[in-house]
Amino acid sequence: MSIELRDLAVTLAREAGELVTSMRADIEADSISTKSSTVDLVTAADKAAEKLIVDGILAARPNDGILGEEGASIDSSNGVRWIIDPIDGTTNFVYQIPAFSVSIAVEIDGVISAGAVYQPSTGVMYEAALGAGARRDGQPISVNPKTSLETSLVATGFAYGSERREGQAQVLLRLLPVVRDIRRFGSAALDLCFLAEGQVDAYYERGLNDWDMAAGALIAAEAGAIVGDLRGNGPTTDFLVAAPVGIFEGLRDLLMDADADAKP
Ligand code: IPD
Repeated sequence: MSIELRDLAVTLAREAGELVTSMRADIEADSISTKSSTVDLVTAADKAAEKLIVDGILAARPNDGILGEEGASIDSSNGVRWIIDPIDGTTNFVYQIPAFSVSIAVEIDGVISAGAVYQPSTGVMYEAALGAGARRDGQPISVNPKTSLETSLVATGFAYGSERREGQAQVLLRLLPVVRDIRRFGSAALDLCFLAEGQVDAYYERGLNDWDMAAGALIAAEAGAIVGDLRGNGPTTDFLVAAPVGIFEGLRDLLMDADADAKP
C-alpha cells in the first residue's frame, strides 16, 4: 500500500508545484500575510496548493485523514493520514529564491510510510516508500558515507520566534568552528532531501512542525541516514538531527551538549 500512496503523493506534489509556480508572478504584496510571528509568511499560493492537494486526496481516498500547514484537519477512519506542507520555504517563494518545495507524507497507523518532496523551480522530485528506498527523479539516492564531522557540510534552519533563534545562534556558535561549513537553504523538506542525495552531509533543526519534516525524514532515512532526536528516539517537533551512521553520534552528542547550554 505504501507504494500506491507514494505514487499519489508524487502526482499531487507535482500538480501543486505547477500551481504555485503559475501563481508566483501574480502574488501581490497584499495577498501575503503573517502567522506565528511577523516573519512567518503565508501567501494565497500556500492556501490554493493545500486546497488542490486536499481535494485530490479526498477524491481518491475519502476515508483518509489530513493534516495541513494551512489548516486542513480531517480525522482518519482507516489509520491513513496525510501530512502536507503546500509550500515549505515560503520566505524563499516570496523572495523568488528557488529553494522551496511541496512536501506530502503519508502515515499508516502512526508510522510515516510514504513521502514526496517536489522542488518546482528545478522540477526535481524526491520520493520514498518505507522499506523501498529513496529516489530522485526515479533514480535511487543515498547519503554520503561520512566518518568525520570536521569535513562534513551541515545544513540547519531557524525558527520564526526570536527567543528560540537566540538559542539556535548559541548552538551554531559551538558547531561552526568544528565542521566543514554550515548551509541554511530555507526549506527543511529540501534540507533532508539534499542530505539524502549527498548534497550536504548532515542536517539538524530545533522546533520543526510535522509537515516540515515528515516526508523529508522518510526520504533521508530510506537513503541511509539515521534520523532522530537528541535523546536516542525518533525525530520530534522538539529536535531533529539526521546524518549518516559514521557521524550521527558525534554530531548528536555535540548538539546535545551545546543545546543544554543554550536558551530553550
Ligand atoms: C520553514 C522552513 C525553514 C525552517 C523553518 C520552517 P515554512 O517552513 O522549512 O527552512 O527553518 O523551521 O518553519 O514556514 O516555510 O513552511
